[in-house]
Amino acid sequence: MKDKISVLISEEEIQNRLKELGAEISRDYAGKSLHMICILKGGVFFMTDLSKHVDPEVPVTMDFMAVSSYGTGVRSSSGIVRIVKDLDQPIEGRDVLVVEDIIDSGNTLSYLLKVLGERKPASLKLCTLLDKPSRREVDVHVDYVGFEIEDKFVLGYGLDYDQIYRNLPYVGVKEG
Ligand code: IMP
Ligand code: MG
Repeated sequence: MKDKISVLISEEEIQNRLKELGAEISRDYAGKSLHMICILKGGVFFMTDLSKHVDPEVPVTMDFMAVSSYGTGVRSSSGIVRIVKDLDQPIEGRDVLVVEDIIDSGNTLSYLLKVLGERKPASLKLCTLLDKPSRREVDVHVDYVGFEIEDKFVLGYGLDYDQIYRNLPYVGVKEG
């Protein structure tokens, strides 16, 4: 690869944390069904890996949504969000868990949670692999956080730099 990338969160650390999160989610959703909504494309690695750690006693269904934020550059935080691919299934009456790669300014998720909340799910929670609380512009309640990180631009494990590096099994930082 042409860029120099240093490992911030190793593959092993991610997988260990996913086991813990899966156990916590399994406890919280015991006796219910869990409808996981992946925010494409960044959330796809996280959601599929995480779902494998949810207790099979909890029936899991999945759907996918893609949004794009107006405003260019690698950091998207204009606050104006467009749904590029909507859900296939209605969520009314379902216990919904939104699974996202990273919460940065909070603009994307604050908008999305509002839109999804209007569709009357039985419950609506948010799970993110990474959280950068120091960058928050709008308040978003996050129910499950994989890792809190400093204000650094990260890539890998679903996160891209100009659409590249999503496939790295770890979360890294581009040097330089
Ligand atoms: P927010 O609306 O500012 O919270 O932005 C969230 C979106 O910006 C995420 O879903 C990512 O797609 C992107 N993003 C924010 N920070 C990073 C980063 O460090 N690396 C890669 N993408 C990021
Ligand atoms: Mg994203």
